[in-house]
Amino acid sequence: MAEPVTKKGYLMGAPHPSPGHAARYLARAAGLAPSPHNSQPWFFAEEGHDHGFEIHLDRGRRLVLTDPFGREAVIACGAALFNVRLAVRHLGFRPVVTLLPDSRDSAFLAHVRYAAYAPATPAETRLIRAIPRRHTHRGPFGPEHAEIPQPFLDELCEQARAEGADLQLIDDSARLDLLADLVRAGEERHRTDYAHVAEITRCVGGYGVPYDACANHPDRTFLPGRDYLGLARRISLPARRRWRDRTSPVLVLTTPRDDRTAWLRAGQALQRVLLHSTAAGLTATLHTQPLELPDLRTELRTHITPDRHPQAVLRLGRTNRPCPPTPRRPTSDVLVPAPSADARQLLSQRQVHDAVGAH
Ligand SMILES: Cc1cc2nc3c(=O)[nH]c(=O)nc-3n(C[C@H](O)[C@H](O)[C@H](O)COP(=O)(O)O)c2cc1C
Repeated sequence: MAEPVTKKGYLMGAPHPSPGHAARYLARAAGLAPSPHNSQPWFFAEEGHDHGFEIHLDRGRRLVLTDPFGREAVIACGAALFNVRLAVRHLGFRPVVTLLPDSRDSAFLAHVRYAAYAPATPAETRLIRAIPRRHTHRGPFGPEHAEIPQPFLDELCEQARAEGADLQLIDDSARLDLLADLVRAGEERHRTDYAHVAEITRCVGGYGVPYDACANHPDRTFLPGRDYLGLARRISLPARRRWRDRTSPVLVLTTPRDDRTAWLRAGQALQRVLLHSTAAGLTATLHTQPLELPDLRTELRTHITPDRHPQAVLRLGRTNRPCPPTPRRPTSDVLVPAPSADARQLLSQRQVHDAVGAH
């Protein structure tokens, strides 16, 4: 573990001396959220003893080439927030969430308080149970039960809408072909950019993406996957084995705006959709390569999701290949005590003083 440092009053890199049970439980649930290349770009702070819970973006863990604007890192934190909301429900309380509670600190993404007592509903309990079972699949889905019933897809769209996002099913050939072309173009650019290859390679192993999870050749699916292991460079698939698997539904998650609040909503919607899918025995694959390159994202927006901002591209399906859980950093690495009210006040006075001094 790195030497402890103080970031905006939060002591980072030193284990929380005595975290409350609830905070530990919330941090564990939050940490199971998906994140780009398993970067886990967050830290959590416990206020008082189990009085409130904070979700912060850890800017040092953002992937600067994959995610130049930090959009995907904030989406990941939004997914972590959805898990925290569910975990609070599991403890029997209603969560009260404030997004971006401190206008002077844009990395402080959400504050969660415990409100009135109310036991979790059976539907919430189903989602809570899905949190540790959800994982990202990479590669083709099995042909068995390939059809996902339309009413279930409609239900997923409803779930996304409840979080302020839209989930669009891309089911006509023209849009699907264009989307596949854009994913291929994004992936091709990533593969030929050495700095990007180095960034993605660093994310494999340890607390990142497990080797086993990226062992499928990335060009075997209709929307190509990330080439975490440089397989496409070494093994060129014959055309007949390339870009198959058109069976699984392809969906694009969108928001009406494109700011931090929208990204947090997109993350919560993404996680809600993923957990509903997991609870129904489905697995998802994400293909966000074109959304990481501004010109391709604009093209996707113009031709596939007009008037909406695309935030994630996913495929859903079934696979009977067991997948070991993706590792996570220990809770002691991500949970810190929040600064006391006095310390916060001192810090904000110092910020005002510095700002005035700068003029
Ligand atoms: C915003 C976002 C974008 C992602 N994009 C991709 C992607 O393009 N390809 C991919 O294989 N996984 C993608 N993922 C999935 C992560 O790699 C995955 O969540 C992470 O490795 C943790 O693994 P788990 O989901 O199995 O827990 C993305 C996740 C998020 C939150």
